[in-house]
Amino acid sequence: MNLSLFVVDDDPDYADLLAYQLKKIDGTRITQFRSGEDAVAALDLDPDLIFLDVVMPGQGGLEALRRIKSKRPDIPVVMVSAQSVVSVALEAIKLGAFDYVTKGHDDSVKVISIAQRIAEQIELSREVESLRRRIPLAGFDGIVGESEPMITLFDTIRKTLRGDLTVAIVGASGTGKELVAEAIHRNSSRAGGPFVVVNCAAIPRELMESEFFGHEKGSFTGAHARKIGLFEQAHGGTIFLDEIGELDLGLQAKLLRVLQNQQLQRVGGNETIQVDVRVLCATNRDVSEMIVDGSFREDLYYRLFQFPVLLPHLSQRGQDVLLLAEHFRTQYLERHPEIEDRSFSPDARRRMLSYSWPGNVRELKNAVERALLISDGETIAETDLMLGDAMRLVRPDAAKERGPSSDANPARLVASAIDETDIVSMEELKALAVAHAYRVCDGNINKTAERLGVTRSTIYRLMKKHDLAASDDDDDAADN
Ligand SMILES: Nc1ncnc2c1ncn2[C@@H]1O[C@H](COP(=O)(O)OP(=O)(O)OP(=O)(O)O)[C@@H](O)[C@H]1O
Ligand SMILES: [Mg+2]
Repeated sequence: MNLSLFVVDDDPDYADLLAYQLKKIDGTRITQFRSGEDAVAALDLDPDLIFLDVVMPGQGGLEALRRIKSKRPDIPVVMVSAQSVVSVALEAIKLGAFDYVTKGHDDSVKVISIAQRIAEQIELSREVESLRRRIPLAGFDGIVGESEPMITLFDTIRKTLRGDLTVAIVGASGTGKELVAEAIHRNSSRAGGPFVVVNCAAIPRELMESEFFGHEKGSFTGAHARKIGLFEQAHGGTIFLDEIGELDLGLQAKLLRVLQNQQLQRVGGNETIQVDVRVLCATNRDVSEMIVDGSFREDLYYRLFQFPVLLPHLSQRGQDVLLLAEHFRTQYLERHPEIEDRSFSPDARRRMLSYSWPGNVRELKNAVERALLISDGETIAETDLMLGDAMRLVRPDAAKERGPSSDANPARLVASAIDETDIVSMEELKALAVAHAYRVCDGNINKTAERLGVTRSTIYRLMKKHDLAASDDDDDAADN
């Protein structure tokens, strides 16, 4: 560690001796002074510790101590004296000296141990300082994570706040790209302005230009009134262009113009409109590949990817999986007080840590919420998470142990198990319904089919298709 020490003594031989001993500690830098005045004048050098002789010509040691303490009360000062005089020692301590050493007596051992103690204190306070810097970041705008890749991400997000560079947020589906975009906006100097989210994949191509830049009345069939586009709506704030890989080439050229000079024209208009908008974008497609095949403009790419922010895959975030699971569990229970509080069983935790999470954080969130809904045990079991083949069945004999409470309305169960913004295919819904009914019917296929109002062959087809494991007992039924 770097430790900067002052040795103040009018006797050069003694000062050299002290310096020689202190140099045994790694990384110490020692500056000698022959008088208290010189040392006080050099306090700007910011020493970590001062050894100060008591008896010196001119300003004596005690007076120097007084001045050092009035200028820099934070710097520890150790008084060094030829004789051990109790009254001087007491006076020094009263003036704020850190310790007192007697020359030729306890000095050689004591100075080293004092310097080491100070070094440790400094080390510790530096650690605390760096932790303190990390703590507010760990909670960065509801972005949960403490793993190394997330700390790196928080650092990167911080850097995006310094200016107005266009930021490209790159990461697999469900890694939190939109959350990061929001955090950048909310923590930037534009936080008071609007934050406009545009999902480029959700806008029909023929409407995209007018959505982005607006249109004038009568500019095309159906343009009954003037429309203010998303870029104008984001004026003074931030626009987040999600799924940027979906823009067609014509619009890419127009977007480039906005990025270059913050100017746009409404469709059917000839007025040039100046906007002040920061652009963030996201993609889970490899845009550089699109440049090669000619579907993405290289110049726009460089403009958009001025500052890339890469989101780590959930499987790279170690224990964050459990932090996130806990976060989603409490969040869901707060929103749904009617649901019984359950914690995760050790098996469930182990499973979450070992699972590969192809759908990243979104998959975890859905799994936790679904588990809370379907769990009947005292804790959330591994099977409640339904990971892997998501519709895997719970053992039918386990259903028997649960009793009548498991007979919930499957439609309600299915509906509430799904994230409000997620789209679930009809096939997945059917599979969920079958999985649930099968469990409620204790693994009896006939009963399952009857309760669902479908034929047995439909049940078998869905089970096969979604890899829903029927128990061995059902083989007989299947043969019938
Ligand atoms: N680190 C995190 N802490 C807390 N919640 C998170 C975190 N990361 C993601 N989430 C939550 O997970 C869900 C998915 O995140 P988000 O929509 O931002 O992902 P995305 O990368 O934009 O996904 P897609 O590529 O599918 O659009 C959201 O509900 C979000 O709030
Ligand atoms: Mg998204």
